[in-house]
Amino acid sequence: MSDTPDQYGVVGHPVSHSWSPFIHGMFAKATTQNLAYRLFDITPEDFRREVLRLFATGVRGLNITLPHKQAAAELVNELTPRAERAQAVNTIAFFEDTALLGDNTDGLGLTADLERNLGITLTDKRVLILGAGGAVRGVLGPLLERELREVHIANRTPERARKLATEFADMGQVSGCGYADLRGPAYDLIINATSASLKGEMPQIPAGIVGEATVCYDMAYGRGHTPFTLWAKSLHAARATKGWGMLVEQAAESFLLWRGIRPDTQPVLQALARHA
Ligand code: ATR
Repeated sequence: MSDTPDQYGVVGHPVSHSWSPFIHGMFAKATTQNLAYRLFDITPEDFRREVLRLFATGVRGLNITLPHKQAAAELVNELTPRAERAQAVNTIAFFEDTALLGDNTDGLGLTADLERNLGITLTDKRVLILGAGGAVRGVLGPLLERELREVHIANRTPERARKLATEFADMGQVSGCGYADLRGPAYDLIINATSASLKGEMPQIPAGIVGEATVCYDMAYGRGHTPFTLWAKSLHAARATKGWGMLVEQAAESFLLWRGIRPDTQPVLQALARHA
């Protein structure tokens, strides 16, 4: 048996802020799996060529983050049903002698964090999602499966939100609009899935959609507040939460696909809570 660790990693642009190497490192240690996990900063122009090169050189699995999730769905040979539904991929697995399999564990990561870690019941809730990119594609299916009362998708480019709503209309009450079209009453849950935080920005959202019972969830994560959690706090939201839990839960699902073991997420969540 070789002592060389199996190679994994995350591809994004930018990607230097990613905590995935830390998380998968802890998972590997806890489950005694011999693997190495690295960061790969790859531009959209180089994405296809470089990812195929990584797999040709022996990489066994990759996580895919912004802005490549939709490109990854086009690159793989086979999609799991949930990735097919999303038309976006955040996990690629390369099994020996088989093709590249694309999966999407984002939705499961988000719902596991909301329900299991934060104790939120999603059924019958009014939900607003900010953003209409690859990150939203991954979470819409699993959210709509919870029988929400309605989902509004708002985006800087309203057309993208409307198109996405049409794609998922068979799963429930879902519509798309621009930020300026948003009106009260307050939502039960608002999810920020834009990449605006990465640039320290916050979409221009009219007041009146956040109330004292509104839970605000930022899929982005980092130390301290994000522009979105600061905005939520300033409007006295019931809760303003960053996406650390989603990150850890989606990582655990990717690890399960690659290694056949779902690691315990609690020790990692606790370690991150000390850092974040
Ligand atoms: P991801 O895979 O993270 O979803 P993406 O597909 O590049 O990445 O999507 C980024 C999302 O963030 C989009 O909804 C984008 O809005 P547009 O569709 O109008 O481009 C949104 N976004 C990025 N920067 C933003 C900003 N400064 N203000 C508001 N929305 C922003």
